Amino acid sequence: MPEDAVLAAAADSVASLALAGLRARPKTLPARLFYDDAGCRLFYRITELPEYYLTRTELALLAQVAAEVAAMLPAPALLVEYGASDETKAGFLLDQRRGGVPVFAAYVPIDVAAPALDALQGRLARARPELRVWPVAADFLAPIALPLGGGERARLGFFPGSTIGNLDPAQARLFLAGVRRALGPGGRLLVGVDLRKDPAILLPAYDDAAGVTAAFNRNLLVRLNREAGATFDPLAFDHRALWNAEEGRIEMHLVSRRPQAVTVAGEIVRFAAGEMIHTENSYKHSLSGFAGLAAAGGWRTERVWTDPAGLFSVHLLGG
Ligand code: AVJ
Repeated sequence: MPEDAVLAAAADSVASLALAGLRARPKTLPARLFYDDAGCRLFYRITELPEYYLTRTELALLAQVAAEVAAMLPAPALLVEYGASDETKAGFLLDQRRGGVPVFAAYVPIDVAAPALDALQGRLARARPELRVWPVAADFLAPIALPLGGGERARLGFFPGSTIGNLDPAQARLFLAGVRRALGPGGRLLVGVDLRKDPAILLPAYDDAAGVTAAFNRNLLVRLNREAGATFDPLAFDHRALWNAEEGRIEMHLVSRRPQAVTVAGEIVRFAAGEMIHTENSYKHSLSGFAGLAAAGGWRTERVWTDPAGLFSVHLLGG
């Protein structure tokens, strides 16, 4: 396929994903559409916000966790990261050495963003020339054939960032079971999971004072204007974050400020005043709730780490 045909096919799928969601009642848009270039940059700014405790808490935990996990693994080991837009978090594991040699000899970063994977591979070739890197450009929810059989004695899956929170419990169970199958017997999985807590802490993390999360949410509409032939006025929609106690999740929505009609890929989509587009779920788990989910996905919880304030958790799952 010529390059422009590939790009057209990709653009088509953004439009068809968007239309499928906007035809549904209530209207939805898939959260993975957040991560175009502008969206990735906005998400990076979110991770540095004072209200967004997740990233900094997990990074502080990983420094300790990485050494303890690496000590449990026979070397050489293989690290497989699900949703690897950069190598910062994996770096804690890749740094681990025993007897002067790195515990991890190979790294498989899996991400939908092929350009980000290329950049990551370039940086690693310079910074860690001895590491074998096999990037996989794919949606981590799709079944992935891992490039295994490189002589490794242990396989560790890595799913940081509480990205698992974007999946509802049924999807999370299927994902966990799929990873278990992909990693094979003896495989382990290290997962970062945001914990249930007072909505007074959760809500500002998804509705920050500087309005970065609002811009991240509205960027979906900016993206649809560019990639799906849409005519949204992003400022005609308010950002709203709410805590759904029944489902145990933060929800993000875009709320139409007035009655309006928008064209998306040639189709007219009408909004009533106050009508919402549901753009993201971010599930928050209790420690026992997540252990139950892991068990349903066929895993046994080997160890759990949490920060002193009990905000965030890292779980090591095994067979
Ligand atoms: C990348 C899915 C973990 O749910 O906290 C941040 C995305 N959305 N602010 C999250 C997000 C709004 C984030 N995850």
